[in-house]
Amino acid sequence: MENNTRGGDAPVKCELEANKNYAWCTCGHSEDQPFCNGSHRAAKATTPLVFTVEEEKTAYLCTCKQTKNPPYCDGSHN
Ligand code: FES
Repeated sequence: MENNTRGGDAPVKCELEANKNYAWCTCGHSEDQPFCNGSHRAAKATTPLVFTVEEEKTAYLCTCKQTKNPPYCDGSHN
């Protein structure tokens, strides 16, 4: 979507808890990358991707928003 932007140039390492809802920013406008902070509304950009993980884990979440495997970094920022 044209109102989306890059939220950063590298993934953010996150400790994810099991069965908790996370809202990954898809639009790039959040100041709280990689997570949504509601900025997509004012920007008229895409809404967050809500996801959970089944087991606690460390993950590298995409901030450039170019990943083909959201919310995870796939190296597309390079
Ligand atoms: S601020 Fe980017 S999806 Fe909400």
